[in-house]
Amino acid sequence: MVRPEGWFSGTGWRAVGMTMNGSYGIIGWPLGHTMSPTLHSWGFEQFGMDARYTAWPVAPDELAPFMERVRTQPVAGLSVTIPHKQTVMPFLDRISDRAARIGAVNTVYWDGDVLCGENTDITGFVAPLHALSFVPASALVLGAGGAARAALAGLKELGVTRLAVTNRTLAKAEALAAAFAVDCVAWESRMDSGWQLVCNTTPLGMSGAEEARSPWDAQVFSSDMLAYDIVYNPLETRFLREAREAGCRTVSGLDMFVQQGLAQFALWTGQSMDAAGAKGHLLGALKG
Ligand code: ATR
Repeated sequence: MVRPEGWFSGTGWRAVGMTMNGSYGIIGWPLGHTMSPTLHSWGFEQFGMDARYTAWPVAPDELAPFMERVRTQPVAGLSVTIPHKQTVMPFLDRISDRAARIGAVNTVYWDGDVLCGENTDITGFVAPLHALSFVPASALVLGAGGAARAALAGLKELGVTRLAVTNRTLAKAEALAAAFAVDCVAWESRMDSGWQLVCNTTPLGMSGAEEARSPWDAQVFSSDMLAYDIVYNPLETRFLREAREAGCRTVSGLDMFVQQGLAQFALWTGQSMDAAGAKGHLLGALKG
């Protein structure tokens, strides 16, 4: 396995050229490809900050010693991804109401000497809808994993009155519906009634084995619908392409990704990255 520059091995911290006040990074396992370093490094550069953002693969059994070192090094801020979004919580001093409500932290930051946890996935999910001034009267979330939780929390915050979740495994949709006090729809019936917003949080359409698939039939889109996909690779999934061809408005996962990252950056630095510039930079990096 190729280790990135600066990583935690379980037996020690191996970092190259870190400045103590400006050391940020993302933890996850396996980390795979992440665009967070591209986004945040660009942000630090824009503001002329002496900071560095690193991809840190941290295995589940390395999380406790890693979080100890976050305090002692110290590390200035973290992005947190699967499988640590829940398990990181006991290592923090304060959890925001939002993060507590969905039971997941994707951002760790310092408030003085208090180590805090926040969830900016919800902000990231909602921001593109705010930008469109669009509050749907009804919304259906496809899938029942962590991303579905952020989507449901965001849609509730927006004040969507008719809200439901559907999932291939019904029991998981039922559990999520109960937790968020929303309706549950059987996966087989998901296209039986009209929804103003449909949000895909499943891997259907993601590059790789599922790329050719869509969770929605092309002929069931109506032009007053908004299709939201949290997948950003490819930028336009089959779901979004067929929605666009049917005249629907669409929101891509890249918009959500950029906005959750901007909210992280603001918590760490107090600075607002330019959203359009950040998205343009990521698009350039994706096209390589
Ligand atoms: P995340 O935390 O990123 O949301 P996840 O927890 O792995 O990811 O959730 C993925 C969701 O996509 C799950 O709801 C999963 O359904 P199951 O609960 O039945 O596993 C759903 N999913 C994955 N592959 C799918 C497929 N081929 N068809 C439909 N749903 C699928």
